[in-house]
Amino acid sequence: MRTQVVIVGAGPAGLTLAHLLHRQGIDCLVLEARAREHIETRVRAGVLEHPTVDLLDEIGLAGRLRVEGMTHHGIRLRFDHAMHRIDFADLTGAAITVYAQQELVKDLVAARLADGQPILFDVDDVRLDGVDTDRPRVRFRHDGRERTVDCDVIAGCDGFHGISRASIPAGVLTVHERVYPFAWLGILAQTRPSCDELVYARHPDGFALHSMRGPEVTRQYLQVPAGTDLADWPDERIWTGLRRRLGHGDGLDLEEGPIFDKSLAPMRSFVVEPMRYGRLFLLGDAAHIVPATGAKGLNLAVADARVLSYGLGHHYATGRWDELDRYTERCLRRVWQVQQFSWWMTAILHRIGGTQPFDERLRAAELDRVVSSRAAATTLAENYVGLPFATGWAWRG
Ligand code: APR
Ligand code: PHB
Repeated sequence: MRTQVVIVGAGPAGLTLAHLLHRQGIDCLVLEARAREHIETRVRAGVLEHPTVDLLDEIGLAGRLRVEGMTHHGIRLRFDHAMHRIDFADLTGAAITVYAQQELVKDLVAARLADGQPILFDVDDVRLDGVDTDRPRVRFRHDGRERTVDCDVIAGCDGFHGISRASIPAGVLTVHERVYPFAWLGILAQTRPSCDELVYARHPDGFALHSMRGPEVTRQYLQVPAGTDLADWPDERIWTGLRRRLGHGDGLDLEEGPIFDKSLAPMRSFVVEPMRYGRLFLLGDAAHIVPATGAKGLNLAVADARVLSYGLGHHYATGRWDELDRYTERCLRRVWQVQQFSWWMTAILHRIGGTQPFDERLRAAELDRVVSSRAAATTLAENYVGLPFATGWAWRG
């Protein structure tokens, strides 16, 4: 087989890129290791930035999210028994949309199939050859058969544990990493949201987050030590933890109910530089991971797809590589802005064991500043709703 671009991985990065390339008449093949049903039900994050929704609107993929997504014009910060609202509309004129990642993946897969464009699920043993040559090749197994596809470019969109980054020779990539000594215990519960906006809580017991997936389903998180065993957290202990950390009053009265999904997410900040090796370009979690506190992972994956689709559009329109050669530089500017914000949100809202009381006081003071200074609140709001995409090299329709 032959195509122009092989996309490894059908997450937000791969599927958004596939759609942007298709709109530019660029052929691509999407290879996904898991079954369609799995990727369309896998529970992940659920906050879409303003620029992400605008892009999805522009490319005709926001139909269902506009109907089923929940537009929020602010978030709440809760600490020291008081609730504070960060008013995005007032501070930035923008909003966020709460829409489950798996629903977005479902929409992107449906669009690809509706366009009659190739996507293979349940592929096995993907191997990348010749990425440092001008004739890259991808080999994989599908339906028990060995397959080979030649292409011009490979987009590694296979997440943190994928094969793309791992296929780059040692010494090429510089790794920047920070692993946090805690994780997030996340639940999905059949309960009505106890607040009409997300509630981020800082508490002596640790961080908590009250989020939602709809009028009858909440998504909630508790900070727990890294290496926690879920078996040590029966439902009652989780509700006790949420009640203590989220408190009550100020419009929040936590409703408890059946928990139908429980998971643990490690917390890390991770970036590799460059985000390219020859004809292999890394996007999304394959190149960078942010702690979930800033709700940025999905949005950063979409931002990378925008940058690469522009570079490829320019390449196939002109035969030149110079725009593609700026891929890493263009992506990393946003990646580090988002890393800084996500690390900062994590630092001011979590209990970080082993730190000096002096540092704890500094973080508490910073949080207090956010709720007492318009300038500080605006910084949080601008980052949270999503930094504007750089213009002038936006993708071309
Ligand atoms: N071959 C083919 N597909 C693979 C392989 C492989 N060897 N390894 C992984 N995949 C697939 C996974 O099954 C998954 O569907 O690649 C996809 C990667 O998708 P994501 O992990 O969602 O990564 P990305 O598209 O970069 O989106 C990042 O997703 O995980 C969230 O919190 C994360 O919000 C962030 C966003
Ligand atoms: C979620 O709804 O899953 C969610 C919301 C905000 C975050 C992280 C996750 O910061």
